[in-house]
Order: sequence, then structure tokens, then C-alpha cells
Amino acid sequence: MAPATAPTGGSGFVDLRSDTVTRPTPEMRRAMAEAEVGDDGYGDDPTVNKLEETYAQRVGKPAAMYVPSGTMANQVALRVLCPPGRLAIAGRRQHVVIYEAAAVAANAGIQIHPVDDTDGTIAAADITWAIEAASHHYPEPGIVCIEQTHMPSGGVPWSLDAVEAVVAAAGGLPVHMDGARLFNAEVVTGVDAARFAAPVTTVMSCLSKGLCAPVGSVLAGPADVMEQARVERLRLGGAMRQAGVIAAAGLVALSTMVDRLAEDHLRARRLARAVADRWPEAGCDPDSVPTNMVIFTHRSTDAVIDHLHGEGILAGTIAPGVLRLVTHHDVDDAGLERAVKALASAP
Ligand SMILES: Cc1ncc(COP(=O)(O)O)c(C=O)c1O
Repeated sequence: MAPATAPTGGSGFVDLRSDTVTRPTPEMRRAMAEAEVGDDGYGDDPTVNKLEETYAQRVGKPAAMYVPSGTMANQVALRVLCPPGRLAIAGRRQHVVIYEAAAVAANAGIQIHPVDDTDGTIAAADITWAIEAASHHYPEPGIVCIEQTHMPSGGVPWSLDAVEAVVAAAGGLPVHMDGARLFNAEVVTGVDAARFAAPVTTVMSCLSKGLCAPVGSVLAGPADVMEQARVERLRLGGAMRQAGVIAAAGLVALSTMVDRLAEDHLRARRLARAVADRWPEAGCDPDSVPTNMVIFTHRSTDAVIDHLHGEGILAGTIAPGVLRLVTHHDVDDAGLERAVKALASAP
């Protein structure tokens, strides 16, 4: 994603570049200061252990593991579940395909088999096709990856039926859910994270996006898979020591920050209305903005970003000609109205 000019923290900008820009809440800072810690390399950090147990329970999996980032959670899952030289079937715009600096190839020796993800989901028929193609000189698939919610289509949640259809089409292949924003999906659909995660092999969620923790993601799955995941985390340099200091904020994130995501969704819809009013041709239908992402096209994204910057609003791009505005905890109604006003006068 193209970086916009970064402001200094607390500069008064309304930062709509991403939901990763949130700062920890006062409750998180207190929990971090008071966290009980130990050496997680020995499994001795009680706060990390509690976070892993809490997330595993929340997504209905036997075990979980704390990692520094969502990218590492995806990479670990792929290294454990898919042998090198196999295909990872994934939507062509998923994070694991586009935004991880080709890490799947570099870290795991896996080739991506990209399939259409225009509406945010991938079709069961495309998975069936890729599996059958292995009998016709194509490489053999080793895993299917899905993204819940799907960021580039506008934070669109998968339905439970769609998840189940993909898992059924995958047959015996493992399925990894990049649930960086799984809790946005839970809030907007009313379907528990555990129900979304039940059909898939592994699931990861980010605590550092709309949930406001400063660092960290959690990967969950079967106990034997997670045992191997700890080895792969070590190999990638992601094993930490007194990580309870940051895990403490993750626990606050899971217990206090999920329900409020509904506010971000409402504000995103208001922003989408402003975008649709200003550029009716930009492909932004406010009724199709289910969560916290507003994605739209413009022939001169730099001109829009510069204009918004001049009005105290930060925006970014996710592809050539594609702009993104993201709502989150640190954007309140006053900030939103500033952004709406700035959009109305944008070029
Ligand atoms: C859908 C999705 N998956 C994974 C990630 C990676 O998370 P991280 O930035 O913590 O590596 C992101 C980050 O924005 C994301 O949007």
C-alpha cells in the first residue's frame, strides 16, 4: 500500500489510512504497566498464556499462539500446513497474496494459485478446478486461504455458508482463515467468531487493528498443528520473552473492544455516502460498505490524497487508482464530519 505522509502522533490529523493506526487505550496502558510476566520461551509468561487460552476459547480451537504480527501468523500457518512446491489457493487480492512482500514464496517455497475474489469470497468451483487440474499437469494444491473480512473488496464479511462451501470443496486440504478482522465480521453478521472458525483448520486474528492493541496477532488451531507452529515461529524469529507486557493489551482488546466495532461500521457508511455523493462514478455504494473500509477508484489518487492532507485528513491507496478510507476507534464523530466536509470539496 502506498504510504501517505506520516504525521507525528497526536498531530490533530484525522487518520483514515488504516485501522492499524489506533493507539492503545488508557485501560490497555494500565494493564501493560501491571502485567505479570515470565519467559515465554519457557512457556512461563502467565499473561501470554492467558491471552492464548482466551483467544483459543473465543474461536473454539484447542490451542493458540501469540505472534508479533498478522503477517507472521499467516506465514507460520502456511509453513506448517502446506509443503513446499505446492499451491496455496487464495483470492487474488488477499493480504497473503499481495501485501506480504511475496513472503509465501520466500518463506515457504509455496506458489500462489490466485482465483477471482471480486465480491470478497472465492468460489468453491475454482477450488474444485484447481484440485482437478493437478491430474492435468498442474502443480498440486496444498492449502486454501480465505480472508475474513476481505479488505480490498471493502471489508466484506464471508457468510458462514460461503466458508462451509469452500471447506467442502477443499476436500482433505487444510484451510487457513486470515481473520485479521474476524471480529468485524462477527459484529456485522451476528455469527460468533467460533462458528466462522469451526470449519477451517487454522484461524488468525489481529489485536492491533480495530481492537487497538499496540502489537500482536493470535493464531489458533489443532494442538498438534500449534505445536509445530511454535517451531515455525521460532524459525521466523518471532519467539518472544516477557511478551506479557504487550499481551496484556491484547487481553483488554478482546474483552472490551469488539462490540464497539459497530460504531466504526456506522461511520464508514457515512463516509461512503460522502464519497458516493462526490464521485457517483467511483464504484462506492454505501449500502455495500458492511464494516470499516471505504474503497473507491479515482483517476488521480495523489490529487485526492494531497487535498485531504491539506484539510487535515490522511488517506491512502491499496492499488493503482484505488483509494481507501478506514474508520477505527481514534476517529470520532467530529473527525468524521471533518472528513465528510473535505471529501465534498475534493478534486
Ligand atoms: C487482511 C489482513 N491480513 C493480514 C494483515 C497483516 O497484519 P500485520 O500488519 O500485523 O502484519 C493485514 C494487515 O493490514 C490485513 O489487512
